[in-house]
Amino acid sequence: MRIFAVSDIHIDYDDNWNYMTSLSAAYYADDILIIAGDISDNMEKLKRLFANLQPKFRDIFYVPGNHDLWVRLKEFPDSIAKFKAILALCLGVGIVIQPKHYIEHSLSIFPLFSWYIKHDEGPDSLYKPKVGEDKSLAMWADNYFTRWPSDLTDSGMVNDYFLQLNEEYLEPEYQAQNLSQKVISFSHFLPRQDLIFSTATERKQMGGDFPDPHPRFNFSSVAGSSSLDTQIRRLGCDIHIYGHQHRNRNRRIDGIQYISNCLGYPQERQSVNTVVSPVAADILQI
Ligand SMILES: [Fe+2]
Ligand SMILES: [Fe+2]
Repeated sequence: MRIFAVSDIHIDYDDNWNYMTSLSAAYYADDILIIAGDISDNMEKLKRLFANLQPKFRDIFYVPGNHDLWVRLKEFPDSIAKFKAILALCLGVGIVIQPKHYIEHSLSIFPLFSWYIKHDEGPDSLYKPKVGEDKSLAMWADNYFTRWPSDLTDSGMVNDYFLQLNEEYLEPEYQAQNLSQKVISFSHFLPRQDLIFSTATERKQMGGDFPDPHPRFNFSSVAGSSSLDTQIRRLGCDIHIYGHQHRNRNRRIDGIQYISNCLGYPQERQSVNTVVSPVAADILQI
C-alpha cells in the first residue's frame, strides 16, 4: 500500500481534469490518495471526479478547500450548508472524510478541517505585514464567493468552527483506542507561518529569486492558522500534508514532516518559481 498526496487540483482547468481523470485504473488499486482540498466549486464536477477516481484507489481521502466552498452559483444558502452537502456527497460515494486506521500497516490517517484567520481577526493568524499591501484584500475571491451564517462574523470564528469538528478525534480516549504508530494528518490550509516563505535553499533549487507577481496581495492574511498546528501536534503526527498556497514544500520542523504537493493552475506549472509538480508525488511507501 502506497500513499499519494496532491492538492489544489482545480479541475475547472481542462489540463487538470485530463490529468486527474487519466490516472491508471490498475496501478493504484492497493494505494491511498489524499486530496488536500481545492477541487472545484461545481458540485457536479466534484461528483464526476469522485466517480472516476474512487474505483481506482483503495481509499481516497479529502477535505474541502476554500474554492470548494464558494457559493457563487447560489445553489446553497451559505458555505457551511455547502460544506455539509459535500461531506454528505463524500459519504455517499465512499470518499473518506474521517480518520481511518490501517491496523495491518500500523497507520492512521486524519483529515483535519480548517480555515484561515485574517490579520486582526485572531491571535493565531499567520499574518505577517508586507510593505505596500492592500489590507482590504480586494483581489481575494473568497471575499466575494464565500458566504457565512450570521453567527460566524469573522474568519477567526470560521476557523474555530472547522477546528472544533476535529476535536473528538484529538481526545486522549480516542487516541488511546485508535491511534497507530505512524500518523499522517492533512488539511487544506497552512499550519505555520514559516511554511509560507521559501528558504534560501528552496530558492536556490528554484533557480533564484523571482519577482512578486502580486505586490499588493498579502497571502499570509489568508494562509491558515497556528491553532491548526496545535491540533497537529496534539495528534503526534509524523507527516502533515497541506495545500492552498500553490507552493510546494517538504520540510521537517520540530519532528514533523510538512509536505505540500499542489497540482496548481496550468499557467503556474509553466512558471518555475512556484515549483508545482505536474504529477502527484509518491510521498511514502509503507
Ligand atoms: Fe488552490
Ligand atoms: Fe485554497
